[in-house]
Amino acid sequence: MRVTPWSVEGEIDYNKLVREFGTMMINDELLARIKKHARYLHPLLRTGYFFSHRDLDWIIDKYEEGERFYLYTGRGPSGNIHLGHILPWIFTKYLQDTFNVNLLFQVTDDEKFLYNDDKDMDEISKYTYENILDIIAIGFRKEKTKIIVDTKHIDRLYPIAIEIAKRITFSTIKATFGFNNATNIGMILFPAIQAAPCFLPSKFEGRLVPCLIPAAIDQDPYWRITRDIATKLGYYKPAQIHSRFVPGLGMHGKMSSSIPETAIFTTDEEDKIKDKISNSFTGGQATMKLQKMLGGNPENCPVFWYLKYMFEDEKSSDDRYIKCRSGSLPCYECKHALIDKTIIFIKDFKRRREEAKNLIDEYMLE
Ligand code: TRP
Repeated sequence: MRVTPWSVEGEIDYNKLVREFGTMMINDELLARIKKHARYLHPLLRTGYFFSHRDLDWIIDKYEEGERFYLYTGRGPSGNIHLGHILPWIFTKYLQDTFNVNLLFQVTDDEKFLYNDDKDMDEISKYTYENILDIIAIGFRKEKTKIIVDTKHIDRLYPIAIEIAKRITFSTIKATFGFNNATNIGMILFPAIQAAPCFLPSKFEGRLVPCLIPAAIDQDPYWRITRDIATKLGYYKPAQIHSRFVPGLGMHGKMSSSIPETAIFTTDEEDKIKDKISNSFTGGQATMKLQKMLGGNPENCPVFWYLKYMFEDEKSSDDRYIKCRSGSLPCYECKHALIDKTIIFIKDFKRRREEAKNLIDEYMLE
């Protein structure tokens, strides 16, 4: 397995990742503490999709002491948005609503320009605009959400970024991100730009503001280096809550824009959605006869996965699981269920994306 902020390969062993990255598993005690403040425990937490953290217990301590934290998350605009992207954002909205806190959303157009040899800034800017519509369509609270675009808001980021950059050596960056002497120098500075929003809320508010970052665990290297220098700069270390990767509709691997036939995009037409899900890999057996005899493997089935995490309550999902195992549920039934629910979801999402076109100014940091 190989996990970096730019690519995830191989069979993922999450326990090993937690050990290697030095993060903590979210345990029942922590879930109970969250539940005390939330109206309900979000299914993505209860089912362990968000599974690991750094200092989440500390964030709750601070919250209980009356210190409001800030949420910070982001998006690298290298393509259209698919279901794998929006799941953590839906969870971020839950955190915003539950704790009634502000959110800073960074769009790293610089990162995607610097990283991708084959993309020019016009293309990246197009995705920046399109992705911002998706971010707004999630329904984050207008008065409590600020989107920053790196190339646009660089004047706000740069003063903090150079403070950070001055305290991180090239050898640390090489070891943390696997960079080498052939890496362009923009990428070498970039981690300081992604770290800066961790401290920006403290600048906004003129007090020390705790920061909680919901993100997939592949982003953790950024927060490791940020945490190392935070105290030196007089800030709190940013806390994290990490998600697993979202599976694609192929046999393995995470949902990825680079394999579009295994990803459902928020801009896909109904026919496309139908085709992609119909052709999805499942945990089913090769024939109906074998399926009846042996039962299916819902643990290793993206169709089951999306029904469970996006669309069904625990009870329906458990029923589906049992039926699948017993062999009495053919894959086409699950596929149909997922097609129907996804089409409804995307239709509504597209409507909100349209509305978002008039809301951009209100969401953007001035
Ligand atoms: N680097 C991230 C990406 O490629 C974008 C990002 C910037 C981000 N800041 C973040 C993601 C904070 C999660 C949290 O998508």
